[in-house]
Amino acid sequence: MIEQQLWHPVIAAHELRDEPLGCTLLGQRLVLWREHTHGTSQVHAWADRCPHRGASLSLGRVLIGLHGARLECPYHGWQFEAGGRCKHVPAAPEFDPPASHVATVHEARERYGLVWVRLGQPTQALPDLPMFEPGDNPAWRQVLCGPYELNTSAPRLVENFLDLSHFGFVHEGWLGERSHAQVGIGQVEEGVDGVQVNGARAWQPRAYAGAEGGAWIAYRYTVPHPFAAILRKDAAEGDPVSNAIALFVRPDGHESCTAWFAMATQGDGSSDEALREFQDAVFSQDRPVVESQTPRALPVGRLAPVTEVHGPADRVSSAYRRYLKRLGISLGTC
Ligand code: FES
Ligand code: CO
Repeated sequence: MIEQQLWHPVIAAHELRDEPLGCTLLGQRLVLWREHTHGTSQVHAWADRCPHRGASLSLGRVLIGLHGARLECPYHGWQFEAGGRCKHVPAAPEFDPPASHVATVHEARERYGLVWVRLGQPTQALPDLPMFEPGDNPAWRQVLCGPYELNTSAPRLVENFLDLSHFGFVHEGWLGERSHAQVGIGQVEEGVDGVQVNGARAWQPRAYAGAEGGAWIAYRYTVPHPFAAILRKDAAEGDPVSNAIALFVRPDGHESCTAWFAMATQGDGSSDEALREFQDAVFSQDRPVVESQTPRALPVGRLAPVTEVHGPADRVSSAYRRYLKRLGISLGTC
């Protein structure tokens, strides 16, 4: 399955502290743990199964010693070093464990406030961990929102994020007005790197803090990964706020997913808490509509059980559907 060869966010990085933590990605149980050495911190994601007798390593603990950090199994106390090799069997301390005594190790990274995991090596050219430049830039304030657990597929949610024409209805008075429902789609580019949209425009009733009235706001979008999308609004004349919002979705099945928003802002005076509350409120407007869409899997192929019809303002969503199809994404599509 191609989805196993992609990077996925699994949990917010701040949730992973000194203890190992169990989580599930694409139906596989994982143990996440953090190795602190010399002021740096490295995250690890392994199969949550001890190679000795199959106990859950997430019930164990992280040991710090002269030898560095190790994960200790809760059952017989076998100790595994960061690369997965067993280095110590307490019941037979003289035993030198061979290379076969090893935990199943996956690639893991910490990025944009999230822990990311890739279960398998790509067998074809596939998107890397999504690039979100403002999310790496310390000059931008970083605020993570979520997780939001949703009863729909990851592609339905990404498509909703790319859809400006629902603003005047779902987010009336917040992100749009029904009396100003027309949108500008801008230039849509599709390539191997995903989808890019420049010069999209929507009317916003209160476009930025301190705005007197509504205004047309210009947006840029990128879809660098099948389950991620980035929206950017740059500061403009009279509007000092630059916002970049990345939607990162973990597909949990054909009809369920978990999402986070990584926000990066410059020039916005509101508190982190206020930004989170706003995002939570906007998301609570999207949720009932997005969860009501049937089928929950996104129709991308000719064999989809239903057809959906498209309007001129749906060019971005059509490009996104073609992107999923080109990559061969089957999870959450039909
Ligand atoms: Fe893990 Fe025995 S099951 S040490
Ligand atoms: Co919305």
